[in-house]
Amino acid sequence: MPLDIVVGTQWGDEGKGRFVDLLAADADYVARFNGGDNAGHTVTVGSQTFKLHLIPSGIIQPHSVGVIGNGVVVCPEILINEIKILLAAGVEITPQRLQISYGAHLITPAHIALDKAQEQARGKTMIGTTLRGIGPAYTSKVSRAGIRFLDMLDAGNFETRINRHVTEVNDHLTKLYQAEPINPKRVIDDLCQYSDEITPYISDVSSLLTGALKQGRRVLAEGAQGTLLDLDHGTYPFVTSSTPTAGGALVGLGIGMGYGDRVIGVTKSFQTRVGSGPFPTELEGDLAHKLRGTGEQPWDEFGTTTGRPRRVGWLDLVLLRYAARINGINELALTKLDILSGFDQLFICTGYRKDNQTHLELPFGPGNLDGFDPIYEEFPGWEQDLTSVRKWEELPAAARSYVLSIEQLIGVKIKLISVGPEREQVIEKN
Ligand code: IMP
Repeated sequence: MPLDIVVGTQWGDEGKGRFVDLLAADADYVARFNGGDNAGHTVTVGSQTFKLHLIPSGIIQPHSVGVIGNGVVVCPEILINEIKILLAAGVEITPQRLQISYGAHLITPAHIALDKAQEQARGKTMIGTTLRGIGPAYTSKVSRAGIRFLDMLDAGNFETRINRHVTEVNDHLTKLYQAEPINPKRVIDDLCQYSDEITPYISDVSSLLTGALKQGRRVLAEGAQGTLLDLDHGTYPFVTSSTPTAGGALVGLGIGMGYGDRVIGVTKSFQTRVGSGPFPTELEGDLAHKLRGTGEQPWDEFGTTTGRPRRVGWLDLVLLRYAARINGINELALTKLDILSGFDQLFICTGYRKDNQTHLELPFGPGNLDGFDPIYEEFPGWEQDLTSVRKWEELPAAARSYVLSIEQLIGVKIKLISVGPEREQVIEKN
């Protein structure tokens, strides 16, 4: 089947970008279907490291077309900067190689100001958003007051919509949050200028991708964030405002059913999270420092978008089992196995205990995990540095046992394992 979907199974930052880059070698189109520049993908090719927030990481492959679907919210300034960065790095970006859905919504400076004001007002209950205006932009969309890329094609109408939008947000900013209003004239001027640069890239993504799929061409749908940040299925209310799960790929790209059945779930070998919200297997102290790294290496556990240190913990299979179900995952890709070298013992959470009852599945989803205590299985660690291992058989027995146990406990095969940030630092497991 020509449509493959890549999703994150945790709280984002699983390392999806590196597998998207790898799988894009066989894809004609690589299409982002949710989120905005809250996402951050680090892709390393040789000596070059790209940090992308919006443009699908598959664009680095010279033959594939990058697509931004209607389910994405886009800050035009960030988009233009990314186009410039990629052009400067020698990546070819033309309207033939990058297409943006006319149905995608804009993130404006007013949305960003509102995100900041709302987080401040939440005080102790703050979500820990990326402050990129994501929630307010999706709120505008749902309340039918959003601005779409389609609106850029009619300059007069575009200005009117921006003016109405900024006036409305200013009302909220000043009356509800006692924050400074945004200057509508400036927003109009900036967005109209960006519009001149962006309009050549606007297209009917649904028609483009459906036509391609009908001809048997391969489309790789790339989800941002992860299952546990999904608005409907994540650790609500500590979630993002979009649908990073596999169902979101069809809605967020305008593709009908029946073009694909391969859903690849990307899972880090341990658990990480940025922002607030439950995290049953969270670690602190020396173990946490060891998993997180110091921040000196680009692969250390510090946010690509915000630079915040990530919370870290042992792998949680109750949550992974849940992600496998919600997405219909039939293949797993495991990242960062190399980071687990040098631990005396490793632990995996296989179930939770609450009120003397054992739970392998979540009784009421992952939103409220209070009182659920992880049940851990202990695994022997390994000393060997894995970064130069390329074959499954060359992994130490303890590392193979760790991987096989995840497979067995989830009931889904692990097909790919990454042992470093470079393109070739991947083990294919049959
Ligand atoms: P927002 O998406 O900026 O509204 O943030 C909502 C929550 O999702 C916060 O906890 C963020 O830290 C988290 N979040 C959003 N995008 C990402 C991501 O790409 N990786 C990890 N966490 C994210």
